[in-house]
Amino acid sequence: MKVDYDILKAHDKQAPFYKYRTPYARSLFPALVEKLSITPQSTLLDVCCGQGELAVPLAEHARKVYAIDGAEEMLAHARPHDRVEYARCDVNIDGFAAPAPVDHIVIGRALHWLKPDSLQRLIDANLAEGGKFVICSTYWYSGWDIIKTLNEIAHKYQIVDNYEKGAFDTREKMENVKFSPEYLVKSRAVFKVRPQNLLYHFLSQAYGEKFDILYERSSELSADIQKVVAPFVKNGRVALPLISYGKIFRRD
Ligand SMILES: C[S@@+](CC[C@H](N)C(=O)[O-])C[C@H]1O[C@@H](n2cnc3c(N)ncnc32)[C@H](O)[C@@H]1O
Repeated sequence: MKVDYDILKAHDKQAPFYKYRTPYARSLFPALVEKLSITPQSTLLDVCCGQGELAVPLAEHARKVYAIDGAEEMLAHARPHDRVEYARCDVNIDGFAAPAPVDHIVIGRALHWLKPDSLQRLIDANLAEGGKFVICSTYWYSGWDIIKTLNEIAHKYQIVDNYEKGAFDTREKMENVKFSPEYLVKSRAVFKVRPQNLLYHFLSQAYGEKFDILYERSSELSADIQKVVAPFVKNGRVALPLISYGKIFRRD
C-alpha cells in the first residue's frame, strides 16, 4: 500500500478526534471472548492498539493485554486500564516481545499498516503455540439512508476511507505467514451520535494533507453534516447502524 505521508505523524494529528471514530459494537467482545476461550488467566497482544479500542474491552476478561502503537499522541489519548500495558513501538522498525508468549494476538483496523516481515516478526516473538490471530474492524452499515447521505459527504470532501478503497490485502498477508481463516465473529449495534461528533469522526479518517485541508474546512463540513442529519435527529442524537467483526485465523 502506497502512502505519501508519515503514517505515525498522520495518526498523531488524528488522535484528539479518534474517540469519535466508528466504535466497535459492545457485543463483539463477549462473542470474541467465547470463541477464543479467553479466561481471567489469558494474555493478549493488541498490535497498533490506537487508544485501546480493543485492548480495554478485552482486558475486562483477561489477565493482561499488551497494547503497542507507534504514534505517541494515540498513546497519550489512550484509555487507561489496570490490565492494559501500553508501549510505544513502531512495529515496522522495532521488535516487540511480551514477557512471555501471549495466548492470542489481535489487531484492529491496522493490518494494512504492517509490512509482511513485521507481521511475521510479531507472531514469532509473541504468539504461543495454538494461539490465534484476530483481525477486527468496524464500520457504519451502508444500508440505511443516513449512512448513504454521510457517504456522499465523505465523497464530496474526498475523505479517504482505506477500508472501502480495497487497500486490504488481508488474505495474502495471512497466507504469507501461514495462517488460515477459522471463524468470523460478527456483531451489530445501533449507535447514537451527536451530529457535531460526526465532524470529528470524519477528521479521524483523514490522513496527511487531506487532514489539514479538512481541518481548515471544518465549519463548512460541519454545516453540511448538520443539514443532512437534521431530519434524522432525535433528542439531539442521530442513530447509526454499526457492524463490527473479528476474523479469527489459525496457524496452518
Ligand atoms: C486506524 S488505527 C486503529 C486503532 C485501534 N486498533 C482500533 O481498532 O480502533 C491504526 C493504528 O495503527 C497505528 N500504526 C500505524 N502504523 C504503525 C506502526 N508502524 N507501528 C505501530 N503502530 C502503527 C496508528 O498509530 C494507529 O493508532
